[in-house]
This record gives sequence, C-alpha cells and structure tokens, in this order.
Amino acid sequence: MRVLSTKELRKEYLDFFKMHGHSVIPSASLIPDNDPTVLFTTAGMHPLVPYLMGEKHPAGKRLANVQKCVRTGDIDEVGDATHCTFFEMLGNWSLGDYFKVESIKYSFDFLTKVLGIPIEKMAVSVFEGDSDAPRDEESAKTWQELGIKKENIYYLPKENNWWGPAGMTGPCGPDTEIFFIRDQDSCSSECSPACNCGKFVEIWNNVFMEYDKQADGTFKPLKQKNVDTGMGLERTVAMLNGCESVYDIDVFAPVMKLLREKSNKGDEYIREMRIITDHIRTATFMLGDQKGITPSNVDQGYVLRRLIRRSIRFLRTLGLDNAVLAEISKAFIDIYAPYYSELAQNEHKIIEELNKEAEKFGKTLEQGLREFEKLLKYIQNKRISGKAAFKLYDTYGFPLEITIELAKENGIIVDVEGFEKAFKEHQAKSQAGAQQKFKGGLADNSIETAKLHTATHLLNAALRKVLNDDSIQQKGSNITAERLRFDFSFSRAMTAEEIAKVEEEVNRIIAKGLDVVCQEMPVEKAKKSGAIGVFDSRYDANVKVYSIGDYSMEICGGPHAANTKDLQSFKIVKEQSSSSGVRRIRAVVGKQS
Ligand code: SER
Repeated sequence: MRVLSTKELRKEYLDFFKMHGHSVIPSASLIPDNDPTVLFTTAGMHPLVPYLMGEKHPAGKRLANVQKCVRTGDIDEVGDATHCTFFEMLGNWSLGDYFKVESIKYSFDFLTKVLGIPIEKMAVSVFEGDSDAPRDEESAKTWQELGIKKENIYYLPKENNWWGPAGMTGPCGPDTEIFFIRDQDSCSSECSPACNCGKFVEIWNNVFMEYDKQADGTFKPLKQKNVDTGMGLERTVAMLNGCESVYDIDVFAPVMKLLREKSNKGDEYIREMRIITDHIRTATFMLGDQKGITPSNVDQGYVLRRLIRRSIRFLRTLGLDNAVLAEISKAFIDIYAPYYSELAQNEHKIIEELNKEAEKFGKTLEQGLREFEKLLKYIQNKRISGKAAFKLYDTYGFPLEITIELAKENGIIVDVEGFEKAFKEHQAKSQAGAQQKFKGGLADNSIETAKLHTATHLLNAALRKVLNDDSIQQKGSNITAERLRFDFSFSRAMTAEEIAKVEEEVNRIIAKGLDVVCQEMPVEKAKKSGAIGVFDSRYDANVKVYSIGDYSMEICGGPHAANTKDLQSFKIVKEQSSSSGVRRIRAVVGKQS
C-alpha cells in the first residue's frame, strides 16, 4: 500500500480521473446556492444537482473535483479519533455517461493499482433492493468479476446503501460502498460494514443516481443515469498512513503539535486539542469562503459562532489565551492556501473576525465562568435552572451547548426546557411590536392562510408521528398567504429522510380528503379527549376544537380549510434552527410546480 500525504492523494486522484476523460472543476462554496433546506454544502454532488437532473454542464459529462464540505450532525463526536466537522471530499461524476460497471472499475483500479490496496483488504456493500428499487446484482457481479471474494460482498438495505437526496427532494439512488478491512477480529458473526466496531473503514461511496425523490416521497426515474462518488480525503490518508486517528495526518499534525507545546499538556487533553483543531479549521474555511459568513445569532453564522466560542473555552481549559486562535487559523491558511486561494485572499478578514469574536466572548467568558462556579455552589437537585442558563447565554454569551457541557463535566444537568421558555419570553418581549401584525400567528383570514393553517395542524401531528416524540410542542406559528412558519421543540436537525417522511405523511392525509370539523367544548373536556393546544392560558372556558379525521385534534381559534383536499399538496421548503432546542419549518401548500 502506498503512503501518501493529503497533497499527494489529491493530485493522484485528480490525475487518474483526468486520464480517464474527466474535467476537473473547482470546489464550490460551502454555502449552497439553490438549496434553502440545508445550511452547508455536505457533499460534492450538492452543487451539481441541476446537472444530475439533466441540465448540460459546461465542462462535459465526466467531472472530478475536491469539494469543501461541512457536516455538523456529529459535532458531539468530535474529539474522538475520526470525526471532523469539515472535510474534503474527492469526487467523480458521470452525468448520463458511464454507469455502474465502469464506475466500479475506475474505483477498483484506483484503489488497487494507484494506491496499492490489496484485494483481500477490501470489502464492499451493495443495495439489497426494496419496493423502490431492485436488488443491485449488477454491482455485486462486477465486484466479483474483479476479484472481490463473495464473502466480502454484503447486501444491505436502504438505510446503509442508498444516498440522497442532499436536501429533501432531488437526485438519489442505490450505492455501493467500499471498505478497508482493518486487522481486527469481527465483533460478532453478524458483523458487516453496517457495524461500527471499527473493522470496516469506509473509504469510497459510489452512488448510482437514477431517481428523483418527489415531495410526496415517491421516486421517479431521472432523465439520465448518473454516477456520483465521494471519498473522504482525510480518512483515506489516515488509512494509507496507518494512523490510529485522523488527527495524526499531515494537515493536522502541526496544529496538534503547536497545542501540545504551547500548553505543555499531553494525551490527557487530547479531546480538547482535537476539538480546538477541528473547530478552528472549520471556522477558518467558513470565514474565508468565497461566500464568506461571519459570526451571528442565526443560521450559518450561529454555527460559526458556536464553533469559535467552543474553541475559546477549550483553549482556556488548556491554559491558552485567545491569541492562539489566530495563530492556529493562520497555520491552516498556510496549509490550505495552495488549493483554496480564497483563504489567502480573505486572510485579513478571517483573522480579524476571529479576533473580534474572541474579544466579544473573551470579555464575558471569565465572568460567566465565575457565575457558573457560583451556581454550582447553590444549585439544588444537580440541576441548573432554565433562567440561570438563559442568564449565561444572554449576559455572558454562552451558547447553551457550552453551559450543558460545563454542567456535564460537573455531573449536573441543565433545564433545557426552562431555558427555551426564558428564551422565548425574552424574544416575545423584544419582538412584541413585530408580532402585533400576526395575531394568533395569522397575517390575515384569507382562504390561503386558512389552508396553510390546516397544513400547520397536519404538520404538527405528522412531526410527532415521524419523529416518534409526543413531547414535541408547538413553539410558535406565523402564517402569511404565501407560506407557513412553524416552530417546535426538538433538540436536533431533522434528517432529510425525516423531512421527506413528514411531507409524505401530510400529503397522505391531504389525499384522503378529510373534512376539518370544528366543535365547541369546555377546555377540560377538550384536553381529556386528547386535543393538543399550547396557548391554554389564552383560551376562555369554552374552546373550539378542530379535528381532522382521527389524525389531528387541536384547540384552536381557526379559521381552517373545509376539507384537506383543498390544500392540494404540501411541501417543506426549509428546516432550520430557530433557537436552541427549537426547530423552524417553512412550508407551502397548493399545486407544486
Ligand atoms: N454523495 C455521496 C456521499 O456524500 C457520494 O459522493 O457519500
């Protein structure tokens, strides 16, 4: 097996696909262009969606690149040996050109001939088939013909061997994944690449994108059959170099060394050092992106703020000051500028913004930590109240995650619900003026808003069902004639799959053509019959209860559509964070174009 650096692997990969007729295209921005449903570019295919759908790409039908990606779904895992919030993805694409057999052959040749991975160290998985798409015998047969032993070919379900769409609808399909088999025994006889025991390290994913997922959850054939592949650069370099941890590879080593030397600390602080390294690298790429963002309290800016503030807190744990933040960022700029010229162009801005954020947070961090220490002395039941957590947020700039983390380190918990309540109360006060316009969440009483209001009830019920969580609470609703906006308590981002399922559910009920029935009854009776309603205190003794079949029952003032059919169809256009522990969905109804 060859031992390659990240620089060498990038070059070998692009050269190989160039030799096979692929045009090399630049990495797109980390901020997606045409997809309001995700905050960051999470895969190389993301910016290519229009071309996978059939639009002609100016560079041709065969493409390859190295794409900057951010995935924050596993942020709590960062600090272990493998997780990162930023990574580079090596990818090659066929836009209606070659398909399964050639794609698999290219991957096989690159891995065995260029990288020199022995065949017996390779395992693959293929799609086992279901009602949406057939079992992928063609891929399995191709692998076998190339010399992969039958026992190293695994058939797995959609959960493992299906990729996409990147947002909620769009190109997707079955995939075949390639794994490096590490020298360790299987954890059990059922162990397979689907297992997390560490025996199988995923190195490459070849997706056969021939389907277009619809808002109603069905799969339509795409105009053309595409291939979309992705290989994690850092992980593959770690594998080739026999590194135990991805943080041991060349792009991280200088920063890890710097942290060790400056702090004079060792492996007992390895988690903190990895988190700082990871978060500052990601922050550097976000700030220095061609569509660079800055720290804020919403959307991408808030993710960035949390990354920076969390790094600062861990720098303190290592006994280091804020100056190290810029020093590490500068080290990353130097490492990556030869491939990402935007980092060099934006160097001044990156460092300035990091220092600004450090100054902002630095001023209050010490006081906040002192406040936290005080809290520790007085808390009861090993629980920090929502009010206290909110004070740490509001006065000292502690993102809730930091308070939770600090609490955890001290064996106590935080009343997250209480925090949300305090947060909402604060928001309500500061937005009182703005909210006057939206009495009861409705901008007007038009037919359109009535339909969207009914859709909100269906959405509320569908969320509880799909996310299997009856504790989900409506946290706010704002409806105009164009769209609904619905806030609800939930602690993490929904997956694309969950979002699609919720859409499917709502569309299923719409298609049933159920009447929306209104009854008046005392509030107690309504509650007893299972009606949900969040604004209890605002209701009079007798309340209106709107029911939609046996699917939804809510205490509500109306108005509503007469029948679910009136809504025609339902589509979620965005799912995002609203505030800590609260998600926000924007959706529309009517004929979808
Ligand atoms: N889109 C696929 C992935 O992210 C292959 O690139 O794994």
